[in-house]
Amino acid sequence: MKRDDQTGLAFGGNKARKLEFIMGDVLEQGADSIVTWAGVQSNWCRQVAAGAARAGKRAVLVLLKRPGLPASEDGNLLIDRVFQADVRIQETSGEKGFLEYENVEEWVGPVLREEEAAGRKPYLAPIGGSIVEGSMGGPFGAFGYVLAFAELLEQAGALGFKPKSVVLATGSAGTQAGLLAGAKLLSPETRVVGISVAGTGPDISRLVEGITQAVLDEIGDGEKVDLDEIVVFDEYLGEGYGILNQGIVETIGLVAGTEGVLLDPVYTGKAMAGFLDLAGKGLFDDEDVVFLHTGGTPALFPYREGLLDGIRT
Ligand SMILES: Cc1ncc(COP(=O)(O)O)c(C=O)c1O
Repeated sequence: MKRDDQTGLAFGGNKARKLEFIMGDVLEQGADSIVTWAGVQSNWCRQVAAGAARAGKRAVLVLLKRPGLPASEDGNLLIDRVFQADVRIQETSGEKGFLEYENVEEWVGPVLREEEAAGRKPYLAPIGGSIVEGSMGGPFGAFGYVLAFAELLEQAGALGFKPKSVVLATGSAGTQAGLLAGAKLLSPETRVVGISVAGTGPDISRLVEGITQAVLDEIGDGEKVDLDEIVVFDEYLGEGYGILNQGIVETIGLVAGTEGVLLDPVYTGKAMAGFLDLAGKGLFDDEDVVFLHTGGTPALFPYREGLLDGIRT
């Protein structure tokens, strides 16, 4: 397991590696505030709040509240408050997923105009720091995961193996795209396997394709990525983004009880449940596999009821 839950920015997680590059862009553009959006219990927004605080910038977080998902001032939202982020809660119907980009302009546009009216230069960062949009002029978030792939390869080499597969939770797709670009450039025989927590296989694969190609265009040597090189399993999505199920609770309990490692209820618990199921079906037979722990553990707290119910049953 590669422990990117230990990356160190406000409880860690994959966004620290993305923000290393995105904050560079924020500084270069001379922005005063970072405006972004995601769900109420967003790990991305929590780490943006931390990164902004560290760089002396304002963070303005548009947090989408969806029926059925925890919305208490707890976990990531509590930490956003501690960082004194400017939090705007937006009620949504929850009919569409976060990745369907519904109404983003309607929600984020007024915030950007408000920042400008106050004499500030806002930087609009895309959800998860993944797709190239808003103020982010390149696949900066994914760059962090090209470097992470290089680091992983080096660490595995020091332990005497070369990973045949790297398995991770995939959502806004930047992490998988960075790893895939890294694999194409440094170790083409390594397969990057995404377990979707936020959308259908074809939808996530298209996002991965776009971001991977953007990375290769910037740092590659004319390499192309093809849709059918992208591996995304969506069978473990269950009832959808952020919805806990018994399999996730049991997986969190199993990994805690056997490895002393905490997974999270939204991303890594779901991805590990999928990984173990696929392993049981023989997908990784005789392979060296690395599971990337992408973080998310602050969300354990707002999910306490579902976790406790699941553990008791
Ligand atoms: C804990 C955790 N794991 C995995 C992911 C997925 O990363 P990405 O959005 O780059 O696909 C995220 C963020 O969305 C996350 O917060």
